[in-house]
Parts: sequence; C-alpha cells; structure tokens
Amino acid sequence: MRITSRIAMVVSFAIPLLAGCNLPGKPKDGPEVPRPEDILSYKTLYATNCAGCHGANGQLGAATNLANPVYQALIDDATLRDLIANGEDGTLMPGFSEKTGGTLTDAQIDALVKGIRAEWSKGNVLAGQNAPPYKATHAGDPAKGAGVYAAACARCHGETAAKPGHAGAILDGSFLAIVNAQTIRTTILAGRPDLGMPDWRSARKDRALTDDEVTDLTAWLISQKPALPGQPYGNAAVPAPVPAAAPAATPALAAHAHAPAPASAPTKP
Ligand code: HEC
Ligand code: HEC
Repeated sequence: MRITSRIAMVVSFAIPLLAGCNLPGKPKDGPEVPRPEDILSYKTLYATNCAGCHGANGQLGAATNLANPVYQALIDDATLRDLIANGEDGTLMPGFSEKTGGTLTDAQIDALVKGIRAEWSKGNVLAGQNAPPYKATHAGDPAKGAGVYAAACARCHGETAAKPGHAGAILDGSFLAIVNAQTIRTTILAGRPDLGMPDWRSARKDRALTDDEVTDLTAWLISQKPALPGQPYGNAAVPAPVPAAAPAATPALAAHAHAPAPASAPTKP
C-alpha cells in the first residue's frame, strides 16, 4: 500500500516536469542530420555528386567543362536533365536518378539543372553566330573528317597517334575507347576554355568550322577507335577462334595476331 502510493507520488511529479520543460538533450522534431533525399541545396548536391569528375567549380576536371558559357548556350534544359538522370552511354558518366540505380530524387535533379544554369549560363552568348547544333543532325563522312583534323586539330594534338602534339594525343586508342561521338562533338563545339582548347570558331586559325566539318571530323575520330582497346595491337585483325580439332593452326594464327593491321582483308596466295 505504502509503496504504491510513493510510486504514484513520484510519477505525478515527473509528468509535469517532462511535459513542461525542454530538458537538455531532448531530441528536436525530425532527424538531427538531414536525410540524403532531403538535401536540395545545389551547392551540396554538386559538390558531393559531380565535382569529383567535372571539377570543383565546373572546371579543370577530367570530364566536360560545365562552367563554360558556350557549352551552356549549346545545350538545352531537357538534354542537360536527361544526361544527369540517365547518364551517357559509351562514357563514364553515370545515371543519377533512382530509376537508373542512382541516389538522386527528381527534385534533386531539378535543383542541379537550375543551379548549373544559374551559376554558369551567361544567356545566349551564341546569338547570331550560326553555331552548329549540340546534337549532330546527320551521319558524318569519315573520309572528309581526316582532312578537317589535319587543318584544325593537328597543330595542337599532333598529326598521328605516334606523334602527339603539346595538347596530348586524342588519336590515342586508350583515350578514344572511353569517349563517344557526343563527347567529341561537345568538345569541338564548346572547347575546353579551362584547359586552353579553343571552340569551333577558332580551332582553325582562319575561320570557324562548319556543321558538316564538325560532323565529318567526329565520324573520323570515332572510326579511329581501336577494335580491342588496351591491347598493344588494338587495330590488328581479330584472330578467329582456334578450332579445337585443329591444334596445328595455332602458331600460324598467333603470328598473324602480332602482324601489323593489314590494309585490306588478307587474301590467300
Ligand atoms: C565518375 C565521373 C563522373 C561523375 C561523378 C559525373 N560525371 Fe558527368 N560526365 C562524366 C564523363 C566521363 C562524361 C562524358 C564526357 C567527357 O568525357 O568529358 C560526362 C558527361 C556529362 C555531361 C554531358 C557533356 C556533354 O557532352 O554534353 C553533363 C551535362 C554532365 N556530365 C553533368 C554531370 C553532373 C551534373 C554530375 C553530377 C550530378 C555529373 N556529371 C557527375 C563523368 C562524370
Ligand atoms: C590551340 C590548340 C588546340 C587546338 C587547335 C585543338 N585543341 Fe583539343 N585540346 C587542346 C588542349 C590544350 C586540351 C587540353 C589537354 C589537357 O590538358 O588534357 C585539349 C583537349 C582536347 C580533348 C580532350 C577533352 C577532354 O575533355 O579531356 C579533345 C577530345 C580535343 N581536344 C579535341 C580536339 C579536336 C577534335 C580538335 C580539332 C577541331 C582540337 N581539339 C583542336 C588544345 C587544342
């Protein structure tokens, strides 16, 4: 009897205490650290998801120089959003939307598009300049593209893969293996002002490149992609699988695999 009344006393004192004051250490409403999906600050989203590849300020990263008003004028909101949400096939650009296995919500992707525009677009800086479109509108002719390379790119990137220029060998198979046609087109059109690469207007010293030239040049560079990237003889003919029943053919095939790439399909004497 006495014990129960004591407990009742303690409890009746404690209830108003707990309800009435903010005891130190009492948790606030909502989590102490925001949930990842609640972060809508563009700066935080960019720093944690993009800066590693595109550079802390949209420049000097390994991937596209986003802080480039020419680039921002070439690409529209829908394309920019699609690239962030779904990534880019044939490159190392990952998709960030939850649908593609990424971690960003639709609202966060919208915040990134808005922030990138607000920070790095300077409006239509290409008005009246007859800029070739961001996306190619037709297939290019690689045969014509080789001449465009010689006239517009070789002075900085070298005439052949074996003789790279001061700006690095873009004809290098390991480089070509990790880019797609759009990356090359984007780089030709927008340049890399952060690294000293001119855009399509001044790659040639005498005049701007035309849309056809950009398209042909891109097709030619893509045609230089090695069939077997990372191999010392990346463009050598791919040896046919050795038939199990004919082991005697192995030395001949191995010799063939190490021969330089034939100019045309080899014919049997
Ligand atoms: C793992 C590295 C990596 C991360 C992280 C990354 N990117 Fe990329 N991104 C790339 C690569 C590689 C390309 C292809 C172009 C190139 O090679 O420069 C690319 C391409 C792009 C393009 C298209 C360029 C074009 O040709 O028009 C956009 C836009 C872009 N990224 C935005 C972003 C944004 C915004 C984020 C952050 C949400 C992000 N990227 C995160 C590597 C990355
Ligand atoms: C005036 C010199 C110059 C000319 C002309 C030039 N480039 Fe570049 N290019 C550069 C420099 C500098 C870089 C950056 C090299 C580096 O630091 O990695 C570069 C980088 C590149 C890259 C790699 C970009 C990246 O994101 O890693 C590609 C692709 C490229 N150039 C293509 C071309 C093509 C195609 C042409 C011909 C239309 C061309 N360049 C003409 C100087 C030039």
